[in-house]
Amino acid sequence: MTRQKINLKSKAEIEIMKEAGNILAHIFQLLEEKVAPGVFGDEIEEIAVREIKKHGVISSFQNYQTYREGVPFPSVICFSVNDEIVHGFPFRKEIREGDIVSIDFAIKHKGFHADSAISVGAGKISETAEKLIKVTKESLYQGIKEVQIGNRMGDVGFAIQNYAEKNGFSVVRDLVGHGVGRSIHEAPEVPNFGKKGEGMKLIAGMTLAIEPMINEGNYYINCEDEDQWTIRTEDGKLSAHFEHTVAVTTAGCEILTEIK
Ligand code: MF3
Ligand code: CO
Repeated sequence: MTRQKINLKSKAEIEIMKEAGNILAHIFQLLEEKVAPGVFGDEIEEIAVREIKKHGVISSFQNYQTYREGVPFPSVICFSVNDEIVHGFPFRKEIREGDIVSIDFAIKHKGFHADSAISVGAGKISETAEKLIKVTKESLYQGIKEVQIGNRMGDVGFAIQNYAEKNGFSVVRDLVGHGVGRSIHEAPEVPNFGKKGEGMKLIAGMTLAIEPMINEGNYYINCEDEDQWTIRTEDGKLSAHFEHTVAVTTAGCEILTEIK
């Protein structure tokens, strides 16, 4: 793997990212409350598109192209249901009672990106689904607690993994969080697993998207969907995903994608 430079952000740049994160968090409230049985992913996409226009921001995902030759990402939200881990499309997908709906959404505002994700249960959901959503969200906060100057990336990954596995779930290995700033994906990688005391030291000015993807069954992924994007669990069991953009500052860790 090539080593890439880490773009440290100034206080002023972190302030802009906080503005971006705040707009994103407000839009997420609208997306979350729309999730219900009978609603189509298209309707949630529509709300996101409308809010992007209203706030004068840009979608980070739409038309995103990987290094592969292939389909540019078609929507502004990723909409992934049940065994779909990430990168699902919202189109023509009706939400059913009991579904876990994962929405991943990011925007660019004044040149800087903010990236976040939530999983929401639709109507009455199974106990397992309920627990998976709760544990995945809490694992993110366990990781965020370790984001402190002087700690290492492995401390963050360990905290997430330890919490998820203690609760009987598994951590996806092949997809990781990332630095975020003027680009949606920057160095460094932020794995959701690791060993205490290992990996890069965290330093002031880093801005990171931490995004645990936690599976009910094993951690293997299936990338063979013909849409070239949707990533599923290999065993067909459930998955959940939560993400926040955070900044490492001398005051500790600041969550940028929560409503202030
Ligand atoms: N949460 C994923 C990420 O932050 C979503 C990427 S969707 C894509 O990497 F379209 F940008 F690929
Ligand atoms: Co991300």
